[in-house]
Amino acid sequence: MDNEDVEIGWRLPVADAEIVELTRSHGGAPAPGWWDRVSRHSLGWVVARDQDGLLVGFVNVAWDGGDHAFLIDTKTRPSHQRHGLGTAVVRCAVDQAKAAGCEWMFVDFEPQLEPFYLESCGFRATPAGLIHLPGI
Ligand SMILES: CC(C)(COP(=O)(O)OP(=O)(O)OC[C@H]1O[C@@H](n2cnc3c(N)ncnc32)[C@H](O)[C@@H]1OP(=O)(O)O)[C@@H](O)C(=O)NCCC(=O)NCCS
Repeated sequence: MDNEDVEIGWRLPVADAEIVELTRSHGGAPAPGWWDRVSRHSLGWVVARDQDGLLVGFVNVAWDGGDHAFLIDTKTRPSHQRHGLGTAVVRCAVDQAKAAGCEWMFVDFEPQLEPFYLESCGFRATPAGLIHLPGI
């Protein structure tokens, strides 16, 4: 397949159940109800749908209400991976965060996804820190 017929849009409606199903499709462990709880706090999100309306790509953009946007939960359906869709979804998120007046977009990821985020999506590497709160 290719992604020519995929429609990508900012803040298009997407149901919690669709996010759950997309997450399961790539082997993730979804938490039903998560999207209904967090979406109201997002700067926005990107939805990609095929011709039949099936959700094939998604990313959420959290923010601090000011200059800082945070890319989180990037997902491409396995049947549509490695055809540029993830890159296009992230590019839409970056463009929309810029249009909203944000100055910085952050993302973190597992080392194996460096080619995706650093080479394909245009992020640059930076030192960062992390605490697993239940572990302290
Ligand atoms: C990561 C993910 C969103 C990438 O989506 P995608 O639509 O396949 O990405 P693209 O087709 O735009 O990839 C562009 C380039 O990024 C790199 N890339 C993409 N996926 C990669 C992976 N899994 N490992 C290493 N490099 C990858 C490749 O260089 C790729 O170019 P190529 O296909 O010509 O080799 C997708 O694999 C996914 O949903 N994974 C499961 C969920 C996940 O891990 N999300 C990330 C959370 S931080």
